[in-house]
Amino acid sequence: MSKKVFIETLGCAMNERDTEHMLAELNEKENFSQTGDFKEADLILINTCSVREKPVSKLFSELGIFNKKKKENAKIGVCGCTASHLGKDIIKRAPYVDFVLGARNVSKITEVLHKPKAVEVDINYDESEFAFKDFRTSLYKAYINISIGCDKQCTYCIVPKTRGEEISIPLNLIVDEANRAVNSGAKEIFLLGQNVNNYGRRFSGKHDKVNFTNLLQELSKIEGLKRIRFTSPHPFHMDDEFIEEFAKNPKICKSMHMPLQSGSTKVLKDMKRGYSKEWFLNRVEKLRSMVPDVSISTDIIVAFPGESDEDFNDTIDVMDKVKFDQIFSFKYSARPETEAEHFTNVVNPEIASQRLTFLQDLYTKHLDEKMASKLGNIYEVYFEDLNADGYVSGRSDNNLVIKAKGSEELLGKFRKVKVTSIGRSILSGEIVN
Ligand code: 5AD
Ligand code: SF4
Repeated sequence: MSKKVFIETLGCAMNERDTEHMLAELNEKENFSQTGDFKEADLILINTCSVREKPVSKLFSELGIFNKKKKENAKIGVCGCTASHLGKDIIKRAPYVDFVLGARNVSKITEVLHKPKAVEVDINYDESEFAFKDFRTSLYKAYINISIGCDKQCTYCIVPKTRGEEISIPLNLIVDEANRAVNSGAKEIFLLGQNVNNYGRRFSGKHDKVNFTNLLQELSKIEGLKRIRFTSPHPFHMDDEFIEEFAKNPKICKSMHMPLQSGSTKVLKDMKRGYSKEWFLNRVEKLRSMVPDVSISTDIIVAFPGESDEDFNDTIDVMDKVKFDQIFSFKYSARPETEAEHFTNVVNPEIASQRLTFLQDLYTKHLDEKMASKLGNIYEVYFEDLNADGYVSGRSDNNLVIKAKGSEELLGKFRKVKVTSIGRSILSGEIVN
């Protein structure tokens, strides 16, 4: 009988992919199958995120519950970014944890399983060419890493400390992986990296000079591949060549994530983001002029140390000008080993909360206006999910989630759908052909 693994994944898409990689290794080398119920698992894994403080404190309360209610002799492993960042301290604080496996060490999952109290968290470990077995949670969409780590020095961000320096994965390995995914039925690939449009800056060994635009061009030659998405591009690297390729390549989905972080040039400087408010707006303008129905999403941090009312108003001004299609917004959270941790001009927490509420209310207003304009529009939807209520759902090229009546046979298919009713996060429609 196969052993069972339960895994909880927090954080970003890169963590989701790391989870798939660990499941693949566990399945191939140790005959584990996945379970959704931790109480029946022989191995419980938490793939953690450390980007803000909250999920880190939640980790220890969750570990306590797992330990209390788990099956006898079941092992508990802490993986991912918090594992990299806290290392052996995790076992000190929760001595029943069996091993700690850092974000850049996931290929060692089957090794640590047999090493009591193993702590493998080296952020210089290089997995950029490790041949993980193909394993995907979705049959229709394939996540593919194109780089590991992050070379940026954003003063608020812990990621360079948890995922190490940025190394690109060789182009031929990415193309091979995409080919295999397409041959097994995926029509969409989702390229992942901390700064995807900085692709090609450094490889593990010697490699030909290539950049992200070249990679996109190579991948779009794959027959049977219909859609390419990626996250996250960095506004600093959004040069004309990249935007033009994005605009003219019909396989690239017209949805761009542009993490603004702040609309104030002064705050952007303090964050070491490398661009100004004007550059960001200029890139949006260029993008919208070339792709009028592009959907633009963003990440915003409010109340970064030293953020004045005027700085915050600059963020609001960018929101009013851009009218983002989706926003992930956060209150600044001081993180250990970052430059901003030592900044003393902290924003009053009450003001921080007010700013976040104001920003989120404004976004909701923008969203309602935008969604209202979608009624009656026709979109090509790639159906990926079976809903419980006799509907299937999927995404349009520009990333709208749309559902329509239907069953399994629509999964993995493209259909034109006319929007008949709108909601904030999902639209409903009728298939027109
Ligand atoms: N505090 C708040 N938000 C943060 N992010 C990254 N670091 C912090 C921090 N210290 C946000 C950024 C990033 C997203 C993944 O998380 O907006 O783009
Ligand atoms: Fe992803 Fe960053 Fe969280 Fe790590 S810290 S899981 S890289 S969001």
